[in-house]
Amino acid sequence: MANPAPSSSSTPTPAPSRAADVALVTGASSGFGLLISVELARRGLRVYASMRDLGRADRLRAAADQAGVRLELVELDVTRADSIERAAAEVKGAAGRIDVLVNNAGYGIGGAVEDLSMAELREQFETNFFGLVALTKVVLPGMRERRRGRIVNLSSIGGRIATPGLAAYNASKFAVEGFSEALRHELRPFQVFVSLVEPGMFRTDIFDRNRRLAARAHDPGSPWFEATRRLEKVVDRRVEKSTADPRRVAMVVAAIAKDPRPRLRYLVGRDARAQSLLARLLPARLWESAIGRATGMASQS
Ligand SMILES: NC(=O)c1ccc[n+]([C@@H]2O[C@H](COP(=O)([O-])OP(=O)(O)OC[C@H]3O[C@@H](n4cnc5c(N)ncnc54)[C@H](OP(=O)(O)O)[C@@H]3O)[C@@H](O)[C@H]2O)c1
Repeated sequence: MANPAPSSSSTPTPAPSRAADVALVTGASSGFGLLISVELARRGLRVYASMRDLGRADRLRAAADQAGVRLELVELDVTRADSIERAAAEVKGAAGRIDVLVNNAGYGIGGAVEDLSMAELREQFETNFFGLVALTKVVLPGMRERRRGRIVNLSSIGGRIATPGLAAYNASKFAVEGFSEALRHELRPFQVFVSLVEPGMFRTDIFDRNRRLAARAHDPGSPWFEATRRLEKVVDRRVEKSTADPRRVAMVVAAIAKDPRPRLRYLVGRDARAQSLLARLLPARLWESAIGRATGMASQS
C-alpha cells in the first residue's frame, strides 16, 4: 500500500509519547473526518488519518500544518475488504494497536424510493453500513483482548428521524444506530465503549462535491421529478443559510475519545436537538404534516 511520509508541521510539536492512544479515522480527506483527525492529534493522540484516495490528502496536510500537528496517512476504502485488512495491519504494524476507531466515511444519495435503483440502495449500504461494520470487526478483537477501546460511529439526526427523499441514507444510518446499540451492550463489560455521533446539518463536501442523486431522479419522465426539484431547493436553501461550525462535531468526537465512560448517543447541532425534541413532543399527525410542509412533499398528491 502506498505509505507516504507523514505530514509534518512547520512549527514542530513534540511527537506523541509512546503511551499516546492510537486513533484510526476513516474518510479524512474532507469535512468531519479531516477536522476530527486534526482535533484528535491536537489532543495528543497518535492519529492515522485514512482516505480512499491519497491524492486527495492536500487539504488534510494543510490543516495539520496550520494546527501544528503530525498525522500519519493511510489508504483505506471502506467498501473493499482487502483495503480494510491492509490498512488495519499497517496501523497495527506501526503503532501496535488501535485504541480509538472513528467510522466517519459516508455519503448520502437523495431520491424518492421509486427513483432509487436497488444498486444505488446497496451501494449506499456498502459504504455507510457494511464498510463501518467490516472495519469494526477487524479492529474490535484487539480492543476486547486489551479491555480498552472507543468506537465512534458517525450517524446523523437522519439516523433517528427519516425524511422524504432520503430513504436510502436514513435506512443506512438507522442500521448504523441499531448495530452500534447492540455492539455497545456486547462490549461494555470489556471497557470498550461504542458511541454514536448524530450531527444535524453542517456545511461540508457532502452537500457539494460528494452530493449524490438517484439517476432516475434526473428523468423528467419520473413521477417524482417535480417533488425532487422542490426538495433540492429546500436543501440548497438550508445549506446556504447554515452557519453551524463543523468543528463542533470534531470537538465532540475528541471528547468521546478522552472520556473514561462515554455515552451511547451524542446529538450535535441546534437543528438536530430541535428536531429530536419536536419529533418526541408533537403528536404523530402534527409531526408528519410539519415534515410534509417543510420538505414541499405536502403538495405532492
Ligand atoms: N455534513 C453533515 O451535515 C452531516 C450530518 C450528519 C451526518 N454526517 C455524516 O458525517 C460523515 C462525514 O461526512 P461529511 O459531512 O464530513 O462529508 P464529506 O466532506 O463529503 O466527507 C465524507 C468523507 O467520506 C469519504 N468516503 C466516501 N466513501 C468512502 C469509501 N468508500 N471509503 C473511504 N472513504 C469514503 C470521502 O472520501 P472522498 O474524498 O474520497 O470522497 C470523504 O472523505 C458521513 O458519515 C455523513 O453521513 C454528515
